[in-house]
Amino acid sequence: MRLLVTGGAGFIGSNFVHQTVRERPDVEVTVIDALTYAGDRTSLAPVADRVTLVEGDITDGELVDRLVGESDLVVHFAAESHNDNSLSNPWPFVQTNLIGTYTLLEAVRKHGVRYHHISTDEVYGDLELDDPAKFTAETPYNPSSPYSSTKAGSDLLVRAWARSFGIQATISNCSNNYGPYQHIEKFIPRQITNLVDGVKPRLYGKGENVRDWIHVEDHNSAVWAIIDQGRSGETYLIGADGEKNNLEVVQTLLEIFGFDKDDFDHVKDRPGHDMRYAIDSSKLRTELGWEPRYTDFRSGLEATVEWYKANEAWWRPAKAATEAKYAAAGH
Ligand code: NAD
Ligand code: TYD
Repeated sequence: MRLLVTGGAGFIGSNFVHQTVRERPDVEVTVIDALTYAGDRTSLAPVADRVTLVEGDITDGELVDRLVGESDLVVHFAAESHNDNSLSNPWPFVQTNLIGTYTLLEAVRKHGVRYHHISTDEVYGDLELDDPAKFTAETPYNPSSPYSSTKAGSDLLVRAWARSFGIQATISNCSNNYGPYQHIEKFIPRQITNLVDGVKPRLYGKGENVRDWIHVEDHNSAVWAIIDQGRSGETYLIGADGEKNNLEVVQTLLEIFGFDKDDFDHVKDRPGHDMRYAIDSSKLRTELGWEPRYTDFRSGLEATVEWYKANEAWWRPAKAATEAKYAAAGH
């Protein structure tokens, strides 16, 4: 099978490529990645002999047409993915998340290639802290930020191309991921790399916002379950029952590092900050028999801390600029 992975030099995409190379020797992997600030070719270095990396933009119609035409399956991870960046400059989000997805869909339609679309639970908006409800595939879309609204728009394009043009497509909406190779602008690796440097963790607002954490390996095993057994045209929500508020996450990290669990700073909150995300993944579990393997958040976090400590050369070059950007924004 010839597999095209978009955004395969980013966090989740590179982990997906590693997992695929490890578990599926019959799959030939090509990655298209624009190598933006969030993409790093060294994330693919351990599998470089098994993967063709094409440096290119998913809005480049000619390139996308050629690569999709040479593939049997497209898995689309490439995106502008950080909420805070979308609040300071939404334009790249519109370009990559909307125009990029449109460009891929047109090539998929022309060549009749199977397509899997990676999306986020943030398309559903947020839940109240005391709401017993969780997101399901029937929850109405209600995105809050330029990031989540452009992801929502991309999901709707996929649904329309499936219904109107009959493309063979599935969609997955996953909750917040953690694990190796995540950019240090994101919450967990930012705090880990700050703690390595002896800098206190930074909590937005009161720290009561809840995210439903899943290890990246579990996200990617679910994606393969959907590709193997999912029904075309369907949406599957991916989650591992990992709800934690941000304060709990920071205090667990402080404990892992052996520091006082109250030694953190509160900083300026994010405008429009979603309060809570929570995934009901029963459709995925019941229909496809998928189960997460990382069910203990603390040990998953310990392994992630070890990874960042052992791979300082991977993240150190981005650290000063990332913190300067946050300082300028008051975070
Ligand atoms: P990331 O920012 O780490 O990686 C994105 C990758 O896409 C980078 O390698 C970047 O260079 C590449 N890219 C960006 N614009 C491009 C373009 N125009 N053309 C080609 N490549 C381009 O993101 P991530 O956290 O790995 O997220 C991957 C996907 O998973 C996204 O679609 C995101 O919406 C979705 N998702 C992420 C999470 C999460 O917690 N990180 C949760 C659910 C869903
Ligand atoms: P983030 O990793 O940006 O993911 P998302 O916005 O997609 O959920 O942030 C996760 C949570 O952590 C979110 O509630 C914002 C919060 N946060 C902090 O408290 N401190 C930080 O330094 C960052 C980057 C995020």
